Amino acid sequence: MRIAVIPGDGIGVETTAEAVKALRAVGDVFGRQLDLETLPWSADHYLETGVTIPPDGYAMLREFDAIFIGALGDPRVPDNRHARDILLGTRFELDLYVNYRPVRLLDARLCPLKDRSTADVNFIVFRENTEGLYVNVGGRFKAGTDDEVAIQEELNTYKGVHRIVKHAFEFAKANGRCRVCMADKSNAMTHGHALWQRVFKELAPRYPGIEARHLYIDALVLLMVQNPSQFDVIVTNNLFGDIITDLGAQLQGGLGMAASGNLHPGRTSMFEPVHGSAPKYAGKNVANPVGAILSAALMLEYAGWKDEAEAVEAAVKESVVSGNGTAEIGGTLGTRETGDYIADVIKTNQKAH
Ligand code: IPM
Ligand code: MN
Repeated sequence: MRIAVIPGDGIGVETTAEAVKALRAVGDVFGRQLDLETLPWSADHYLETGVTIPPDGYAMLREFDAIFIGALGDPRVPDNRHARDILLGTRFELDLYVNYRPVRLLDARLCPLKDRSTADVNFIVFRENTEGLYVNVGGRFKAGTDDEVAIQEELNTYKGVHRIVKHAFEFAKANGRCRVCMADKSNAMTHGHALWQRVFKELAPRYPGIEARHLYIDALVLLMVQNPSQFDVIVTNNLFGDIITDLGAQLQGGLGMAASGNLHPGRTSMFEPVHGSAPKYAGKNVANPVGAILSAALMLEYAGWKDEAEAVEAAVKESVVSGNGTAEIGGTLGTRETGDYIADVIKTNQKAH
């Protein structure tokens, strides 16, 4: 497998190094060839060269089997244009319409809700990833004056909504998950979200074994906190998916724990932890690499390397449960030491096999 690695900015560089360690451990013990090619695109690179991503950048990325991104964002680039071009650009240009964000609690003690077991927090969010409020359509009129008007359009297309909702149902069916919940705000957003309603009602009857439920997004977030065990598969639009997956990350123990895949089934896809570049923690060896390592596991799973993905997940779980992790999840290790620990567990578990 040929993988493009974009470590990016801040702690992204540090957590990516640990994801790479886990991938190399997998390559060693499973006898798999993983060619990792690092691309320098980042705030540093932009500040040095004026280039966020080269003109042929997206075409280059398409040549790889998969893409791994650390995190992007730097206070020296106040409009974060490099992040927009590299991260959002890749999502849009490669048409990665599925943002796959599992919310899975590995250790009950990490859940901020009281009396929850690991079984209570185990669902998938499918976030539409190519439309909605992220399309950058709109404009500002009389900007900077007291008469300023700012318009930000939300784009919803039949094809776009259909393919993500269908993906959620197909995923549920293929993975033995029997509840799909679609969340929108159709009581207020009467045009765009009426389309989500239409598509959901059209597709749901094609999946008779699967309970199809609709919730308004405000009710959904309430229920995610009140009783997350009722959720199995959630599908929603780009912005709502962005917001609820931060909430989902905290249910798993924090942003450092959460993984994601940006997918176009059958095509080159991109994997990244949900966390940001966290400038204030950068270079301190304190960032939690678990979300990045679990994102690497999603990449292996997506490539069809199921045993390899499970080996990585099992090693991560062992590190989290045994307290061999970073401080914010109750451990005593640094970023690098956590990555070393997980890579070692991958190796010893596999040798014992
Ligand atoms: C995410 C991030 C991005 C998003 C930002 C960095 C643009 O928050 O991947 O969740 O909003 O999609
Ligand atoms: Mn986000």
